[in-house]
Amino acid sequence: MNEHRCVVIVGSQWGDEGKGKIVDVLAEDVDIVARYQGGANAGHTVHVGDEEFILHQIPSGILHPERRCYLGNGVVMDPFQFFEELDALTARGIDAEGRVGVSGRAHLLLSYHKVLDRASEALRGTGKIGTTGRGIGPAYEDKVARQGIRVADLRDAARVEASLRRAAERVNSRLEFMGSDERVEADGLVAEVLGIRDRLMAISVDTGRVIHDALKAGKKVLLEGAQGALLDVDHGTYPYVTSSNTTAGGAGLGVGIGPTAIDSVVGVVKAYTTRVGAGPLPTEFPSPMQEHVRELGGEFGATTGRPRRCGWFDAVVVRYAARVNGLTGLAVTKLDVLDTLEELKIAVGYRAAGQEMDDFPGDLGLLEEAEPVYETLPGWQTSTREARRWEDLPEAAQAYLRRLEELTEVPIWYVSVGTRRDQIIHVERSH
Ligand code: GDP
Ligand code: IMO
Ligand code: MG
Repeated sequence: MNEHRCVVIVGSQWGDEGKGKIVDVLAEDVDIVARYQGGANAGHTVHVGDEEFILHQIPSGILHPERRCYLGNGVVMDPFQFFEELDALTARGIDAEGRVGVSGRAHLLLSYHKVLDRASEALRGTGKIGTTGRGIGPAYEDKVARQGIRVADLRDAARVEASLRRAAERVNSRLEFMGSDERVEADGLVAEVLGIRDRLMAISVDTGRVIHDALKAGKKVLLEGAQGALLDVDHGTYPYVTSSNTTAGGAGLGVGIGPTAIDSVVGVVKAYTTRVGAGPLPTEFPSPMQEHVRELGGEFGATTGRPRRCGWFDAVVVRYAARVNGLTGLAVTKLDVLDTLEELKIAVGYRAAGQEMDDFPGDLGLLEEAEPVYETLPGWQTSTREARRWEDLPEAAQAYLRRLEELTEVPIWYVSVGTRRDQIIHVERSH
């Protein structure tokens, strides 16, 4: 990894794979960490000593002193939530203020996007996506409809005021049409946004230029993905997805550098599978295994507190994620959560519509009826939490991980065996 200067860290299941922990570990050795998509729908948990930090918008590198952290143009930035998060870090003794920047090309996610998010979900009734309610879909809709407001637009107060008033009108007629009682109040909105204008303008930068120059000067950069490949608006389980390109292709695009600037792509996966929100999850556990693993893994959402749905490791999903992301290495997290299980299953294919499939289908109907084909491996029933080298892992855990490599066709570069920074194995390629 040392020679890899620009590395993408990408969730390769349905989000919450432990990207925050992996970015925090790898940030030890880099200069810049930048987010390239999503917004405050992310919840990236990092443990430093006895303290837990949950980052929604600020990149997970921020907990290392001196790392510079940026939000790229592909992010939808909620400026109020962003500054709240920044102030909370400062209050906890993290000197973050002078180390953050946001692309002038990033779109602002404002209160009315959250109102629209709630109203759209209510309208969907039983077909709810189960969004995080953070306004993500409506903010990206505005961006693509060419009616969004970007950070750089704040320079001209009169123009931004006019845009906000137009947005309020548009949103209110849409809310009325949707049958929602909520309304946006234009004066309040304008006052609110103009109130944070100076603070936001002060951190507005051209992230593409900053990252390009840093790489040219030999510095190291991590591009931190949010969500996961199966939540990508193009490659995920549409429509049960988020509204951005979470996959590695979105990384260069979302910070303003080209694909040739990227040296490697690390796919973060849990040693099992989780998903929060609605949509297919072929390897989902039945009860009581569901509750048991949820308890073992502490699987409750970092952003919404919702219980996460849990299941066996799905090699069909990760093989697909490896292809669409061009993964060069895997970081397998939460291996320790499996420590007490007697045996482990891995989905190696699906059976649907009377056929066997070894690839992840784009047809949601097919996916919904897909029955996983499992392979069963023995558990190790001993703690892996103290393992710091590959050789420290029990034989059965090594065999399980080697099988994941074979099935996904991606080498494992890191294994995480607990929440702490030191609970990480940097895998040497000797096994
Ligand atoms: P992210 O969104 O991908 O950053 O992941 P989240 O932070 O939402 O969820 C991952 C959860 O697993 C967090 O609570 C982490 O502290 C925790 N975690 C990460 N790596 C490990 C690990 O190796 N073992 C255990 N037991 N927990 C981990
Ligand atoms: P991190 O970065 C897990 C899910 C939501 C919902 C769908 C759409 O912590 O891995 P949205 O609010 O984005 O419109 O919701 O995507 N979702 C996540 N699930 N981890 C996340 O982020 C998620 N961000 C969104 O639950 O199903
Ligand atoms: Mg998360």
